[in-house]
Amino acid sequence: MPTQVVLGLQWGDEGKGKIVDVLAQKADYVVRFQGGQNAGHTLVVDGVKTILHLLPSGVLHGKTGVLGNGMVIDPVGLLEEIDGLGKELAERALQNLLISDRAHLLFPYHKQGDVGELSQKIGTTGRGIGQAYEDKVSRQGVLAYMLSMKEALIEQVKVCWEGSGVETASMEAYLKTLAQAADRLAPHLANIPAQLNEAYEADSRILIEGAQGSLLDVDHGTYPFVTSSSTTIGGVCTGTGLPASRIDRVLGVIKAYTTRVGHGHLPAELTGDLGESLRQKGQEFGATTGRARRVGWLDLIGIRYAMMLNGVDELVMMKLDVLDELPEIQVVTGYKHNGNRLEVFPTDPVVWTACEPIYESLPGWQSSTEKCPEFDQLPDNAKRYIDFVEDRLGVPIRMISTGPERTATIVREGR
Ligand code: GDP
Ligand code: IMO
Ligand code: MG
Repeated sequence: MPTQVVLGLQWGDEGKGKIVDVLAQKADYVVRFQGGQNAGHTLVVDGVKTILHLLPSGVLHGKTGVLGNGMVIDPVGLLEEIDGLGKELAERALQNLLISDRAHLLFPYHKQGDVGELSQKIGTTGRGIGQAYEDKVSRQGVLAYMLSMKEALIEQVKVCWEGSGVETASMEAYLKTLAQAADRLAPHLANIPAQLNEAYEADSRILIEGAQGSLLDVDHGTYPFVTSSSTTIGGVCTGTGLPASRIDRVLGVIKAYTTRVGHGHLPAELTGDLGESLRQKGQEFGATTGRARRVGWLDLIGIRYAMMLNGVDELVMMKLDVLDELPEIQVVTGYKHNGNRLEVFPTDPVVWTACEPIYESLPGWQSSTEKCPEFDQLPDNAKRYIDFVEDRLGVPIRMISTGPERTATIVREGR
């Protein structure tokens, strides 16, 4: 399986990091294609938690980590993330890092701009993501290749920062740090389309890791409550330089229920005690900002839409264990709008606000799934829940996660 893509099918935080970490054992390259430090991907290995924002989740295995051209990269933040891994891992991660020379760089003036009324309305992560992508599409961005031309880079950043209208008090100190960062990162710049295509031709195993979720896609998501990049399959081609014909398998990651950070539609939101208990059990607090995640029932309409957009071949269901104690579980199988049943994902926010979810109810299992090594050992009602979702979505659920650790992963062979 040369190229495998892992994409979130909800509003992010589905557990992509954990599953990419599991799959990375059998990969040669692990590649990020979009987004930046807005991502927070959590890996738990032997009780030790690591949260990655820019690095692909294969770095703990010492795989070649690639930052694709579709990303917006804070060079100083990237080095802080690497150094924060501890000496041995940091050395390994840096040694195995390739940065697309066409990726866009993100600077403090982008972050400083991500605080206003619009950012608050969306509930952004405040990492300057929208601002960096604005510079990209308005052709004012700074490309990563400039890390190898330190003096010109510093001069350009200075001009951009002064022209951005934000505070410049910290600029001189930052430029010194940037110069040091450029020295460390420049040796890792690469022509990523050429490298990945050569790797594909040499039968290397390429694992591509999505950030955010499909419903946060700038084109296909719940606009305007979205991020600023293409989080769906098309973004893989534009964000890496691998053509569509070289994507062999698409894995869609879903959480056994729904969460969302930031504002925007969440039709099956649970706001009362039940929502709070799921939030606590699932530790639903943002990996990037620490914000409490909003929680809701599984929404099959949103997932089916995301599956269509991405051409999903198989599914991974995460966090089944979070539902362990519930006597009853609801699943959204449609929306009601003006007395009519909607089976499609609406576009207009006004329609969204007026949509009422239609639920089907399933019995809970009220026992622990956490240490179940195999599907057959899951409680009957847990199997029934998984089979129900699989049946309604029409694609095999090939892996099930029942805990944050690498080891709490059930693989259903022969699906
Ligand atoms: P990502 O952004 O998609 O990589 O997901 P996050 O890392 O932001 O959020 C997922 C959270 O759920 C992290 O805290 C993971 O450690 C945790 N997690 C992943 N899989 C499971 C699981 O199967 N069960 C439980 N209880 N936690 C999980
Ligand atoms: P991972 O990769 C969940 C959300 C923000 C906000 C909107 C726009 O960990 O799944 P941005 O800072 O991107 O301009 O914010 O998108 N958002 C995420 N939600 N998981 C993420 O990443 C997210 N990255 C951005 O909360 O609603
Ligand atoms: Mg996350």
